[in-house]
Amino acid sequence: MAPVIRPRRLRTSPAMRRLVAENRLAPADLVLPVFVADGIDEPRPISSMPGVVQHSLDSVRAAADEAVRAGVGGVMVFGVPTPEDKDPTGSVGVAADGILNRALAELRADLGDTTVLMADTCLDEFTDHGHCGVLDEHGRVDNDATLDRYVEMAVAQADAGTHLVGPSGMMDGQVAAIRAGLDAAGHADVGILAYTAKYASAFYGPFREAVASSLSGDRRTYQQDSANRIEALRELRLDLDEGADIVMVKPAMSYLDIVRDVAEEADVPVAAYQISGEYSMITAAAERGWIDRDAAILESLLAIRRAGAGIVLTYWATEAAGWLR
Ligand code: PBG
Repeated sequence: MAPVIRPRRLRTSPAMRRLVAENRLAPADLVLPVFVADGIDEPRPISSMPGVVQHSLDSVRAAADEAVRAGVGGVMVFGVPTPEDKDPTGSVGVAADGILNRALAELRADLGDTTVLMADTCLDEFTDHGHCGVLDEHGRVDNDATLDRYVEMAVAQADAGTHLVGPSGMMDGQVAAIRAGLDAAGHADVGILAYTAKYASAFYGPFREAVASSLSGDRRTYQQDSANRIEALRELRLDLDEGADIVMVKPAMSYLDIVRDVAEEADVPVAAYQISGEYSMITAAAERGWIDRDAAILESLLAIRRAGAGIVLTYWATEAAGWLR
């Protein structure tokens, strides 16, 4: 029996496949995360993320400039202080002369409004215990005391020139607290890219090296359990009610169902973060010749897009933007 209906007709040539493609990636959909470290003059390689570095203040400016020229939609900045500067409350993450705020100020001066600058608003890079918040007398992460710190941090980042703050600590009420704090400080125009559904993930492993994290233990009392889906929708409702401007799911590839769920419910833009472990897995397999690196990168990014994320944070943003132009 010869079939009458033949879906293969629409796959016959690259031109036909291009015409009928349901999803596309554009450079402007991609956001480049960068690490900037205090006290270094030359970029320092991150061994578990081949091709990614801790930048110096000079090299981060060059990397951001290159990304913007490649057409990426934004740059997300993480700060890496010197070990001596870490303390229990992450003070150097709030200080105007801390590495993150200095980098933000320089990048904003360089780039103005030609890109969207985003800041990681979280304490873990800056605390000596490596947790995303401050601890109470029992050593537990103190939600409400942490909120006060996040507000100070967000206001300092806004003062430094960030366009968006990115609270990534999964504290309850973080979006509402930061919104109120920014507004009270005259930063009504600074938006909140909320880490809405951030899961406790083994795939953050390489990031811990990237930011020289001091964490021992885990983040399971604040990040979500991988078993849960409904809980992400509850977090979404809260973040939307609290005033999130963009909502994010993280990690991306192991949580594409969550990206889809959030995309169906959210009436704000949805982002997804292709994290360090996702980068390193593809990089390692490609180094061994087991997969076609560039094809795997593009396929992974397109899958995140197809799941419903309009914005994709990826360490390949600049390179992929170059291919997509
Ligand atoms: C916490 C934070 C983490 C990442 C981004 N922000 C790590 C964590 O929660 O342990 C991970 C990013 C990545 O793995 O690429 N400030």
